[in-house]
Amino acid sequence: MREKLVAGNWKMHGNLSENKALLEAIIPQLADLNRASCAVCVPYPYLFQAQAVLQNSNISWGAQNLSQHEKGAYTGEVSTSMLQDFACKYVIVGHSERRALYGEDDATVAAKFVAAQKAGLTPIFCVGETLEEREGNITEQVVARQMDAVLAVAGVAALAKSVLAYEPVWAIGTGKTASPEQAQAVHAFIRGKIASASAEVAAGLVIQYGGSVKGANAAQLFSMPDIDGGLIGGASLSADEFVAICRAAQQV
Ligand code: 13P
Repeated sequence: MREKLVAGNWKMHGNLSENKALLEAIIPQLADLNRASCAVCVPYPYLFQAQAVLQNSNISWGAQNLSQHEKGAYTGEVSTSMLQDFACKYVIVGHSERRALYGEDDATVAAKFVAAQKAGLTPIFCVGETLEEREGNITEQVVARQMDAVLAVAGVAALAKSVLAYEPVWAIGTGKTASPEQAQAVHAFIRGKIASASAEVAAGLVIQYGGSVKGANAAQLFSMPDIDGGLIGGASLSADEFVAICRAAQQV
């Protein structure tokens, strides 16, 4: 049985006092999780706070991006060793907002994936199609292309030490969730594609769904055979919603 993993992606939200209240509210409510894991990916300036508040809890933490370079003249960038200084477990790689707004192409995403793993961080590798691509019936081609870029440089074995997140761009922050069947179809495609290279890696890979997941729709999504939890944006900023989503992952 694969574990379910729910990760919050706070995006560019929060401040010291709100974060403290949010984390302190969720810690005790998730203390008994044993069939699901949960994590929060916070903005860089709050990694120190996340580490301090979460270190004795069962909630992991991580970042939302990283540089593919080890160090050097890269103004504004953050390296893997800096993330290690704050004991990050996870780092999101290739989020669609990074791809669309900051010009991260497949090759850059693949380089970041490799850099994360080299440092012992677990990449949460995001793939997903736009509405136009879905309507053009090229969802599988787009997802395959995004995966192939990473497979080409990292190899299939590397996926065993990563998490994959299917995030249809049209469902992110729109309130429009993929139906459990729509999401399951793409998750099955992803797992099948990996299975053609390694059945073992495919069977063990955690594939999260992301895109307008809420307490009210989480259980239905997570009960699909190839959906192993979620990557949660907006709802991860509400303690009640995030706890409900994590509890859904624990119960299915
Ligand atoms: P929402 O849950 O706000 O749709 O965001 C999903 C997402 O992008 C998580 O990375």
